[in-house]
Amino acid sequence: MSKKIAILPGDGIGIEIVAEAVKLLNVLKQNGLDIELHEAPVGGAGYDAAGKPLPDETLALVKQCDAILLGAVGGPQYESLPRELRPERGLLGLRAELELFANLRPAILYPQLAAASSLKAEVVAGLDIMIVRELTGGIYFGEPRGIRELDNGEREGFNTLVYRESEVDRIARVAFDIAMKRGKKLCSVDKANVLEVSELWRERVEKVGGEYSEVELSHMYVDNAAMQLVKWPKQFDVMVTKNMFGDILSDAAAMLTGSIGMLPSASLDANSKGMYEPIHGSAPDIAGKGVANPLATILSVAMMLRYSLNQPAEAQQIEDAVGRVLDKGLRTPDIMAEGCAEVGTEAMGDAVLEML
Ligand code: IPM
Ligand code: MG
Repeated sequence: MSKKIAILPGDGIGIEIVAEAVKLLNVLKQNGLDIELHEAPVGGAGYDAAGKPLPDETLALVKQCDAILLGAVGGPQYESLPRELRPERGLLGLRAELELFANLRPAILYPQLAAASSLKAEVVAGLDIMIVRELTGGIYFGEPRGIRELDNGEREGFNTLVYRESEVDRIARVAFDIAMKRGKKLCSVDKANVLEVSELWRERVEKVGGEYSEVELSHMYVDNAAMQLVKWPKQFDVMVTKNMFGDILSDAAAMLTGSIGMLPSASLDANSKGMYEPIHGSAPDIAGKGVANPLATILSVAMMLRYSLNQPAEAQQIEDAVGRVLDKGLRTPDIMAEGCAEVGTEAMGDAVLEML
């Protein structure tokens, strides 16, 4: 049976970069990959089309699909909308509705791009970290939440950071399984010196770790982890952490590679259904100019092939093709370096297809 893929370009550069990934998917289809593509609006585009960031039709579609490719959401024209109508809500809604609890964010340094990092080459050369971020729990979704008025008339904002044992266990398992396929080192990041929720987190990760005797498990407080990431990032193989810590640390890890336009991500449910997206945002400042880097989105297709469509060979081919395009010296402006040839979004997408 053919696999259904939802295509959600979203806003800003999402539209241009997803178009390149769709070209690639269509080529794979011509070559025999049994897929169907279905496009739908989300984020600001969802609001424009249907008055909300996650339109009912889009939600119904993604529920039926095996995998989802998302561009990016957000734009200045939506910033004054009430919170529940903002584009980000579309993204959070997709994560929650589809129970995409496991967010995989690789930070890989392409040797061809070593000069783009703000850190010294010897600190980042060969960098390959996988951050596993819990994505449907913690303070992002915890109740109660809100802004309330106190007796003295002053307002107070509040959110709740909660994790159940079962939520910790399932994300820990994902992280241990990934560590088993990589360097067999897992660092769990928490704030157990201050937070009870982290104390429980640490206890459960230890417990799950009992099933993975081959994996070397360590624990680190989040402040130290932020420091270690910029000090000596190569000490890390796989990191696992709560939703908000993962949000922050994954941006830092991405920047170590110097090229946020290169990094894909996967958000998976318990059955390997997944949403795949570049980790960068909608970049309204360059939207519509044809200069955005499509490689993170193209590499997200590779992750989709690997994790949801069970096509590891094709995934590898795409990753290799991207490497060869970089070898050839083609660069979009965000990764441009001396002696290279600057190209736009379409030319970069076409170059990957040619290499394939
Ligand atoms: C991310 C983003 C989102 C998050 C925003 C856009 C809601 O920063 O995917 O990292 O905070 O999770
Ligand atoms: Mg973020």
